[in-house]
Amino acid sequence: MLRSVLAGCGAYLPANKVTNDDLAKRVATSDEWIRERTGIHCRHFAEEGEMTSDLATAAARAALEDAGLDAEAVDLIVLATATPDNTFPATATKVQVKLGCRPGFPAFDLQAVCSGFLYALTVADNFVKAGQAKCALVIGAETFSRILDFEDRTTCVLFGDGAGAVLLRAEEGTGATTDKGVLSTHLHADGRQHDLLYVDGGPSSTQTTGLLRMHGREVFRHAVVNLHDVVLEALDANGLTAADLDWVVPHQANKRIIDGTAKKLGISPEKIITTISEHANTSAASVPLALSVARADGRIKSGDLILLEAMGGGFTWGSALVRV
Ligand code: ACO
Repeated sequence: MLRSVLAGCGAYLPANKVTNDDLAKRVATSDEWIRERTGIHCRHFAEEGEMTSDLATAAARAALEDAGLDAEAVDLIVLATATPDNTFPATATKVQVKLGCRPGFPAFDLQAVCSGFLYALTVADNFVKAGQAKCALVIGAETFSRILDFEDRTTCVLFGDGAGAVLLRAEEGTGATTDKGVLSTHLHADGRQHDLLYVDGGPSSTQTTGLLRMHGREVFRHAVVNLHDVVLEALDANGLTAADLDWVVPHQANKRIIDGTAKKLGISPEKIITTISEHANTSAASVPLALSVARADGRIKSGDLILLEAMGGGFTWGSALVRV
């Protein structure tokens, strides 16, 4: 059977680093409150004129370099974002050009907010397994700073901008869990929770971009339950247990959500990759950003079994089991 093997990872953070103290000059908050409640120390915000496509292109370029491949090799781009450059066309088509890819192959955006990367990975994996792509770029890229209400201290301190990318290459596998590549993916959505985390604008509703609105406590409560369940689903589907995992790369929403989920699953904190202190919540970029950091610093090694998980607006949530 065909497997989507992780050939390369890349990340990009805008140069503009914003500390909690910097934010405290704009809104009634404090470094202490943000650290204690979320684990966030700082985040990066895109410069004026720096767009999601720029961040995505930089991360994708780094992933190609990591894989030792040229942009010519790419035959699919799936870009997860809730903050596209334009309502249309897809930001992925801009990335195709900026990267210098050959034109013609499919490139499209996918919108599942913070779960976007898990959704994009699933779609790209299915293209590979169906024999419709041999070298797929899966990107999560966001400029959430553009949809934050800097008068709402309950939300504006939580998010940052960034991008992460992986390059998937089609390779023959045996079908066993010892194969390298994406072993399984698991996606869910529950539209009844729409109003707990949303943006109060859009082309069809208000003809404005809108700003992020969230009921933080409710989101928190659902996150721990849904993430716990979707991690177990991935392990069960493969006949594995938490003890078999080398690493968990969770969506970086809140250190307390990450810790709470790991505790509920009985996974030791040493196995969890956390980058929230430096990145904050970068939505669809958060999982590939964390993955790239842990690959680059040598924690995640070839052959390791890793579990990716995320939850976001919708609600949407998902997990993926991958052997690197
Ligand atoms: N600075 C200082 N004080 C603040 C701030 C702030 N930035 N924000 C809220 N407060 C105050 C509140 O006004 C409240 O004051 P009060 O007691 O006088 O009314 C107090 O702090 C406590 O507020 P709570 O909302 O109860 O704080 P809580 O402990 O629930 O933490 C938080 C809030 C961090 C938003 C938490 O609920 C959370 O992380 N939820 C998950 C949300 C999330 O991560 N969403 C991301 C997208 S979804 C996902 O990725 C899973």
